[in-house]
Order: sequence, then C-alpha cells, then structure tokens
Amino acid sequence: MNSFEGKVVLAGFLYYFSFSCKHHPPQVSLGKYPRIGEKAREQLSLKYAQVNCRIMKTEIGAVNALPTVTVLVGANVDGKPTYTAIAWVGVIGRTSILISVNKQRYINSGIKKNQTFSVNLPSENLVEKTDYCGIKSGKDVDKSLLFTNFYGKLENAPIIQECPVNMECEVTETFDTPTHDVFVGEIVATHCEDSALVDGNVNLGKVKPFLLSLTDKGYWKTGDKLANAWEIGKNIE
Ligand SMILES: Cc1cc2nc3c(=O)[nH]c(=O)nc-3n(C[C@H](O)[C@H](O)[C@H](O)COP(=O)(O)O)c2cc1C
Repeated sequence: MNSFEGKVVLAGFLYYFSFSCKHHPPQVSLGKYPRIGEKAREQLSLKYAQVNCRIMKTEIGAVNALPTVTVLVGANVDGKPTYTAIAWVGVIGRTSILISVNKQRYINSGIKKNQTFSVNLPSENLVEKTDYCGIKSGKDVDKSLLFTNFYGKLENAPIIQECPVNMECEVTETFDTPTHDVFVGEIVATHCEDSALVDGNVNLGKVKPFLLSLTDKGYWKTGDKLANAWEIGKNIE
C-alpha cells in the first residue's frame, strides 16, 4: 500500500469511526505506546488498539423494569361477575398461569371462594376500560355490566366477550405472601375470536395486547412478529 492509499484507508476508517461512535465515546488503550507524541499515539491507537464502543448506562435504582402483559381477571363475587386489571402475571408452564392479587382486592375473595378465575386478554381498543378496572374497586362500583359476560366450562369464572382471548382457570395452588395471594391457575379451556386465529394459532398481531411499564406507568403497544421461536437461534453455528 503506498502512502496515498494509506491516507485514503485511514480517512475512511476515521469517518466510519466518528459515525459509528457518535453517541458512545470509544474506549481505546494507549498504554502500549507510552513514549510517542500525542498525534501519533492517537493515530496508532485508532489503527491498532481494540476499539470498543461503550454503551452508556445509568443506574436507576432497584426498579422493576420488566414489561408485563396487562390482563383482565374475572371472577364471581356474591354470584356476580367482576373484573380486575392485573399485570403481576406470569407463566409457570404451557398450561398454568400465575396471578398475584393483593389481599385487599374485591376480586380476591371470589377467587378464593370459587377456586376459579378467568384471564381475559384485552386489545388496544379496551385500554380505557382495562384501566378503569385497575382504578375502581368492586367494593365501590359494580363492574358486572361493563362487558358482555359469558361462561364456558367453569360455572364461576365469567369471561369477557369483547376480549379476543379468554382462558378459564382452576386454582391449583395459592401462595400466601404478606400482601398478595399468588394464585396458580391450570387452564381448562381457552377461547379465541375467529378473527384473531391464523392457522389455528392465536395471532398477536390481530389480538393487539398491550404491556404495562412500571417505570413510566405507561401502556405500551406490542408489534409485529419478530421471528420464529426455538428456530431463529439455529442460525448461529
Ligand atoms: C395496569 C394495572 C395493573 C394492575 N395489576 C395489579 C396486580 O397485578 N395485582 C393487584 O393486586 N392489583 C393490580 N392492580 C390494581 C387493581 O387492579 C386495582 O386496585 C383495582 O381497583 C382492584 O379492583 P377490585 O377491588 O374490584 O378487585 C393493577 C392496576 C392497574 C391499573
């Protein structure tokens, strides 16, 4: 490589470097060349040192930043349907759902008594009603006529017609924590609106569920399918 070509290569590298590291200052190791001039050191370090673009992070405290899907849990209390917004929700396995329900919640007594509940997946268009079910308690308002109710296999687990996906659950275990009852529900039946089914599978692009972010107290949209699970990783040798 002659000196002109060398300059062209170095200029190209500098351009690429300044572009790719615009927001993340590079970490360059200069320790190897202690006695040379500043400019030469700079050029050498750019040319030979391991350029490591650092992603800047800020510690924001012990914040729970796990996004969780927001669901409407249904149960009968005193023989009437009631629904509560629940985002402390998890999965134990393919057929079990875990919900964490504060002992003060109106719905809690219904789930305990009947040992059943429903998990209803609201679409974006139900965000307002979902939030309402997370602000208002059945102790103060009647939430039984907020949605069109129906029952499936379980007698005491009311289901919301307007939610495209509904799961009827039977309580198999309850974990008693100081503030919450954590109910584990075995799914006994799942209902899905025909328009949200593609090849027999629940299509999240059609269901349009939304996530709760605790850090900004926001409901966030979900998007398109990204990749096939248990498949895309096989691309890495
Ligand atoms: C987005 C959202 C998620 C919530 N998640 C939970 C939860 O997982 N567990 C819980 O006990 N309360 C949760 N709440 C609070 C209850 O939904 C709220 O206190 C509700 O009014 C209780 O209704 P109830 O007394 O009729 O059962 C949540 C509230 C909102 C807005």
